[in-house]
Amino acid sequence: MLLQRDAQGQPIAIRRDDYAAPAYWIDTVDLTFDLDPAKTRVLNRMRLRRNPDVPTQPLRLDGDELNLARVLVDGQGATFRMEADQLVIDALPDAFDLEIFTTCCPVKNTKLMGLFVSEDTFFTQCEAEGFRRITYFLDRPDVMAMYTVTLRASKAAYPVLLSNGNLLEQGELPDGRHFAKWVDPFKKPAYLFALVAGKLVAREQRITARNGKAHLLQVYVRAGDLDKTEHAMNSLVNSVLWDEARFGLPLDLDRFMIVATSDFNMGAMENKGLNIFNTKYVLANQATATDADYSNIESVVGHEYFHNWSGDRVTCRDWFQLSLKEGLTVFRDQEFSQDLCADASARAVKRIEDVRVLRTAQFPEDAGPMAHPVRPDSYIEISNFYTVTIYEKGSEVVRMMQTLVGRKGFERGITLYFERFDGQAVTCDDFAQAIADANPDSDLARLLPQFKRWYSQAGTPRLAAQGHYDAAARSYTLSFTQSCPPTPGQATKEPFVLPVNLGLLAADGRALPLQREGESEATSGTRTVVLTEASEQIVFVNLDAEPVPSILRGFSAPVILDFDYSDAQLLTLLANDIDPFNRWEAGQRLALRSAVHAIAATSGAADASVLNDAYLEAMRSVLRDPALDAAFKELVLTLPSETYISEQLDVVDPQRVHTVREAMRAQLATALVADWEQAYEANQDTGAYSPDPLSSGRRALAGMALVNLCLAARISGDTVWPGKTLQRFKDAGNMTDRFNALHALVSSGHALAAPALARFHALFKNEALVIDKWFSLQAGAADRGGDILPLVKQLMKHPDFSIKNPNRARSVIFSYCSANPGAFHRPDASGYVWWSDRVIELDAINPQVAARLARALDRWSKLAEPYRSAAQEAIARVASRPDLSKDTHEVVTRALAA
Ligand code: TRP
Ligand code: ZN
Repeated sequence: MLLQRDAQGQPIAIRRDDYAAPAYWIDTVDLTFDLDPAKTRVLNRMRLRRNPDVPTQPLRLDGDELNLARVLVDGQGATFRMEADQLVIDALPDAFDLEIFTTCCPVKNTKLMGLFVSEDTFFTQCEAEGFRRITYFLDRPDVMAMYTVTLRASKAAYPVLLSNGNLLEQGELPDGRHFAKWVDPFKKPAYLFALVAGKLVAREQRITARNGKAHLLQVYVRAGDLDKTEHAMNSLVNSVLWDEARFGLPLDLDRFMIVATSDFNMGAMENKGLNIFNTKYVLANQATATDADYSNIESVVGHEYFHNWSGDRVTCRDWFQLSLKEGLTVFRDQEFSQDLCADASARAVKRIEDVRVLRTAQFPEDAGPMAHPVRPDSYIEISNFYTVTIYEKGSEVVRMMQTLVGRKGFERGITLYFERFDGQAVTCDDFAQAIADANPDSDLARLLPQFKRWYSQAGTPRLAAQGHYDAAARSYTLSFTQSCPPTPGQATKEPFVLPVNLGLLAADGRALPLQREGESEATSGTRTVVLTEASEQIVFVNLDAEPVPSILRGFSAPVILDFDYSDAQLLTLLANDIDPFNRWEAGQRLALRSAVHAIAATSGAADASVLNDAYLEAMRSVLRDPALDAAFKELVLTLPSETYISEQLDVVDPQRVHTVREAMRAQLATALVADWEQAYEANQDTGAYSPDPLSSGRRALAGMALVNLCLAARISGDTVWPGKTLQRFKDAGNMTDRFNALHALVSSGHALAAPALARFHALFKNEALVIDKWFSLQAGAADRGGDILPLVKQLMKHPDFSIKNPNRARSVIFSYCSANPGAFHRPDASGYVWWSDRVIELDAINPQVAARLARALDRWSKLAEPYRSAAQEAIARVASRPDLSKDTHEVVTRALAA
C-alpha cells in the first residue's frame, strides 16, 4: 500500500473538522465475484449520482492493492487517472452507471483486510477501510448503497457461498462451478459488506420473535467443530429476544448468519446479516472452553447482534464517530449479560469485571501517548482507534446518560434515536441529543452541552473528595474537587458532568438515611448527586456521628476517586456496604495502599509482610462468609494487577512492583492456607457442567484456592497439594477445572508443571484454541531469574507456532510483552529488543496486529531507569524503519513524542 504523505514526507493526518459530504452518492452496487485464491475477479457495477449539495468535483474512488482492468462510464471506456491509491474521473454526468473490473490475490492477503483466505475458505473484513481492497469505491461510512452480490466458485472446493441479506438464486455453472446470488434488503455502508465461501457446515435454529415473525439463525463452522456451536447459538437466541424485550428492537432479516474463522484481526465483525467471528468467540464445549470463554462468547455474540441496530440500521457519519456505534453497543452487550444474570450478586460481579477492564486498560491509555477523546479529532490510521477508550469509556459515557435519565428514560431515548435516524449515518451529537430530547426534564437535557465534554476531552478525570463532620450542626459536608490532567493536544480541561452515586454508613456498618440540607425528609439507599463544578459541596444533615461515605457506588462515573479513607473506614465498607461494587473497591483500596507503601519503602528487598493483619483477617472473613457468592469472593481476593498498581505510581520500577505483588500473593496464600483448603473443598461441583454465573463462580474460587495452595506448598515444601492439583488436572470433567489446575502448577513453578503441560498438549493437539491457551500460559508464566524470554523464543520455534495467525501470535508474543510485566521488563533490555524485532517482523505481515503489539511500551516514559532509556531506544529502533505501515508508524511516533 502506498503511504499518503505530505510535503514533509509525513503520513497525512485525517481531521474531524475537515469532514465534507461526499461529492457523489452510490445508490446501487452489483458485485460479481469469480473466486479464486490466487486471482479473484471482481466486476463492480454501480449506479451513481452527483450530490447536489456540494460543488461539482471529480469522482475519487479509493483502492488498495488492486489490479485494475477496466473502467466503463455508461458502458463506454472512460478517461481516468490514478492519484496515489485513488482512481479519479473528471467530467461526469449528474447520474451514471459505472463499471469497474479488478482482480486481487486473496491467498497473499496476510493483512486479513479485504478478501482473504483462511484454511481454504474465503472471508472478508471490510471495517474500517477494507472494502477498497476488494474494489474501487467511495469507501466511507456515509455512502450507503443497496447491494446485490453474485458469487461464483468451484462447487467442490467452495460448496457454501454466503453474502449479506437473502439468498435470491443459486445454481450450477459449467466446469464444476456454481453460483449464488444474494440481495441485501437494507442499504449499507461498504464496511458492512461481507462474503464467505468454503467448506462449512451450519447449526440451524428457527425462532419466532415476540412480534410473531419467523427467522432462521445459522452458525457456520468447519465440519469438525459443529459440536462446539451450541453455546453461540443459545447466545444468539438470547440476544434476539433481549433486544426486542429491553429496547423494542426486532430482528429485521429472515436469515441471520454467524461464520467462524481462525484467522481474524479482532474479535468479530457485525456485517449485515452475516457476522464473521474469530473462532475464539464462537467455539465452545466443556472439554475445550473455560467459563471465561463461555462468558466472552455470550458477550461478543450479543455485541455483534446488537450492532444490527446500533451500527447497521443507524451507522456512523465518519470514523471519528466510531464510539457512536461501539460505545453504545458495548453498553448494550454489558447490559445484556447483566440482564441474563439470575441475581444481584451476579450482576455486580459482571459490573466489577467490566470496571476492572476499564481501569487496567483504558485508564493507562488515557494517561499515555495514545490518549484521545471518545470522539477523536484526528488520526493517521483509523485501525489504531479501535481502542478501549472508544469501546469501554464510550460505554461508560452511555451508561452515565442512562444514570442521568433513568432506565425507562433511556429506553425512551433509544426508541427516539432509532425512529429519528433509521437508515442514516449520524454523529455522537445526534445520539446525545436524541436521549436528551426524549427526556426534556432530565439533568441530561439541562446539562447537555457540558455533558458532551465527555466526547471531546481526553484523560481520566480525578475527583477528590473530603468529608467534614460538624458535631454541633449534626451535618456532614462532602467537598468535591474535580480536575483532569493534560493529554496530547489538550493542555487544559473544563469540568465534566459527574453523576456520583453515594450513600452513608454508620461506623458500625449500618446504612444511614440520606437527608440533604434543605430537604424535609430523608431517603434510604443510594442517591445520585450530579456534580458540574470544579469544586462543590454536598451537605447531609441529621447525623449523630461522622459517617463513612460510600462514594461512586457501582462506579457511576469513569473517574479516579481520591478520598483519604482510614483503614477502619475501608474495613467498614468492605464488610457492610449495601453496594457490592464499593465493598470490592474497599478491599482493592486496602491492598493498593499496602502495595504502594511497600514499593516506596527504601528497603531493598520487599519484606514478607506487605499486607497487615487487619487486611488478612478481612480477607479471611470474606472467604468464610456463607452469605457471599463464590464469584464475588474470587474478585475480592484477587489483588490489584501489576498494571493497575503501576498506574498509581509516578515512576515505575516494574521489577519492584512485581516483587512486592508476589510477596503479597505469597502472604495471602500462606496466611489463609486452611481457608483455601476449605474453599477448595466447599466449591467442588458435582452436577453436570453448566457455565452459569453461580457454577462458574464456584469453579473460579476453587481454581483460585488451588493456585494459592500450590503457592503455599512451594513456600513450605509441602507436596500434597501439588499432587492433588495434578490429579485434578488429570480427572477434570471440564476445561475450566483442568486449566485452573494446570495454571496452579505452572504459576507456582512446580516440577509437575512440565509433565502436565506435555500431557495437555498431547490431549488437545488438534484443538487450535486450546493450543493457544497452552502457548499463552507458558509465555505469561512467572519469571524465575530470566527463564521466560528463552522459553518464548523456544515456543516460537515450536511446529505449532505461526506468526501469521493472529490468535497464535497473540498467545505467545502478546502474552509475554503485554501480560507478563515481571518477565518482559528486564534490566538488561533483552525483552524490549525482542519486542522491537517482533513489531518489525509482524509489521511486514499484518500491520494491525503489529500496531497493537507496538502499544506494549506506551507507558515507557513512566519507567524508572534503566528501563526507561532502554524502552525508548527500542521504540526508536522501530520508528527508524523506513518501510513501516501507517499503523505502526503512528503508534511509535506518538509514543516517542510523549
Ligand atoms: N466492528 C467490530 C466490532 O467491534 C470490530 C472491528 C473493527 C473489526 N475493525 C475490525 C474486527 C477489523 C475485525 C477486523 O464489533
Ligand atoms: Zn463493535
